[in-house]
Formats: sequence, structure tokens, C-alpha cells
Amino acid sequence: AKILVLNGPNLNLLGTREPEIYGKTTLKDIEELLKARAEKAGVAIDFFQSNHEGELVDKIQEADHYYDYILLNAAAFTHYSIALRDAISAISVPVIEIHLSNIHKREEFRHTSVLAPVVLGQICGLGVESYLAALEAVLAKLVISAK
Ligand code: DQA
Repeated sequence: AKILVLNGPNLNLLGTREPEIYGKTTLKDIEELLKARAEKAGVAIDFFQSNHEGELVDKIQEADHYYDYILLNAAAFTHYSIALRDAISAISVPVIEIHLSNIHKREEFRHTSVLAPVVLGQICGLGVESYLAALEAVLAKLVISAK
């Protein structure tokens, strides 16, 4: 099985970016944690981060028929990118939406996710563990579907 982890704009700055909201863990640290967990389960995992909407659309399109699951933190694009939403709708790979912070208890404009109606599920507010929880869910689904 293969999993793709996609991160959107400004997440390359994790560790130094508003640490009181997003924590002190870097994106590289998060990717290493996910990689270690996936490897332990014998699952391949790839990572991609971009600050550019079109690059994320390209990656989502390319992921179709190749990956089994996509874990996506679309960052600010979550709240307004119809292009990302349409890309998710266009492919058959299930996507899990991730946020470090609890978007529902922050500014009003973060309460809406235009992606939420087209993803498998959303995990938010757990910090780095949002990513780890999403991976754990995917690993459990892979075990169940292999039975
Ligand atoms: C975020 C939440 C978004 O509202 C914000 O624009 C981000 C990060 C999160 O992981 O908490 O960049 O997706």
C-alpha cells in the first residue's frame, strides 16, 4: 500500500510559525514520525509540500490510481480553494483532511472547509497527533480491507 502526505502553504515554516498555535515541531519532524510509523507497518509513504495551489492540484491529479490514501493539510486553501476541492472530487483516492489547530474554535473564516464535503473525514485540533491519528486510521483501514 502507498500513502501520500500533502501539505499546503506556510506549513514549510512549522516550528517557527506561530508556535503558540501550531507548536514547535517542524514539518521535517512530522514527516519523520509518519515515515517511522508507516515503515513499521510495511506501508510506503511519500511527502510533498507546496505554497502553490496549482502544484497541489497537479499532485492530487497524479496521485489517482497510484496511492491508496492521501493525507492532506491544505492550510489556508482549505477555506476557499474550489480548485483543490474539484481535484479531490475528480480522483478516486480517498483523502483525509488534517489540521494541527482546531479550525472550529478559531476565527470565523476558518470554520468553513470547502474540502470537508468531498473528503473521507477530517481530523483537527490535535497538533502533530492529527497527522499521526490520520495515519493510524488509514493503517487500520488497510488491515481491514486486506482481510
Ligand atoms: C491549518 C489551519 C488553517 O486555517 C491555516 O490557514 C493553516 C494551518 C492547521 O493545520 O491548523 O495554515 O491548516
